[in-house]
Amino acid sequence: MRVYLSEDYKSMSRRAANIISAQVITKPDCVLGLATGGTPVGTYQQLVEWYKKGDLSFAETKSVNLDEYLGLSPRHEQSYRYFMQSNLFDHIDIKPENTHVLNGLAKSPVAECAAYNQLIRDLGGIDLQLLGMGHNGHIAFNEPGDNFGLETHVVNLTESTIEANKRFFERREDVPRQALSMGIKNIMNARRILIVVSGEEKADIVYRAFRGPVTPDVPASVLQLHPDVTLVGDRAALSKLVEAGEPVCG
Ligand code: GLP
Repeated sequence: MRVYLSEDYKSMSRRAANIISAQVITKPDCVLGLATGGTPVGTYQQLVEWYKKGDLSFAETKSVNLDEYLGLSPRHEQSYRYFMQSNLFDHIDIKPENTHVLNGLAKSPVAECAAYNQLIRDLGGIDLQLLGMGHNGHIAFNEPGDNFGLETHVVNLTESTIEANKRFFERREDVPRQALSMGIKNIMNARRILIVVSGEEKADIVYRAFRGPVTPDVPASVLQLHPDVTLVGDRAALSKLVEAGEPVCG
C-alpha cells in the first residue's frame, strides 16, 4: 500500500484527482469505479476544473458506481445517481450511456444486483476503484460483519451508517434502511484501488483498517490483502497511522 499524506482537504482532493486523471490520460477508455459521500466531492471538483481547462477528457471513459439507496428514484436529491450527476457527470464530457449507477427503484433488487455484476464483467472489470470509508469502516455499503465473498447485493444499513448519513436528509426517518451495494469481492477484483479519507473523526478507523487485523468487523481492513492500494488522506485522518510509524509519501 502507498500512503500519501496531504496537509488539508484541498490538497488531498488534488492528489486523488491527479491519480484519477493519470488513469484516464494513460487509458482513456478505462473503467472507473466511483464513490459518493462527502469525502470525494473535492476530488470531483478538481477533475471538473481540469476538464474545463481542457487538460482532461472523459469522452471514452466508462464508470460504475459503488452503491445506491434502495427506494430512492434517480431524481431524488439524495440518490447517488443525483449526486453523481450534480457533482461530476453533468460537468464533464462522459457519455451518459457510459455511466452506471444501480437503480434504487428496480422491481427486483436481486435481479438488479445480478445484472450489475454481469455489467462489470462485460466492461472487462474495473481499472481504478475510488473509495471513501464510513465511520464504522464500511466501504461502499459493506457494513461490519458482511461476508467478504459477496458481489453486488442488498444491504441492511446499520444504525451508525444511518446516523452518519442523516446529515444529508431532512429527517433521520427519511434515510433509507436498505441499499444496493457492490460487494467486497467486486471491489477486490478492481485492478487498482484509491481510497480517500479526511478529518480527525476518521483517524481511529483508518488506523484499525490498515494496522489492525483483517476482519469483517472492519470491512476496509480487507484492502490490506489487495496488491495495489493507494491511500490518500489529510494529516488529521492519517494522524494515528503516522504515529504508529507507517511510511508515508508527502
Ligand atoms: C456512504 C457511502 C460510502 C462512503 C461513506 C463515507 O455511506 N456509501 O461509499 O464511503 O458514505 O462518507 P463520507 O465520505 O461522507 O464520510
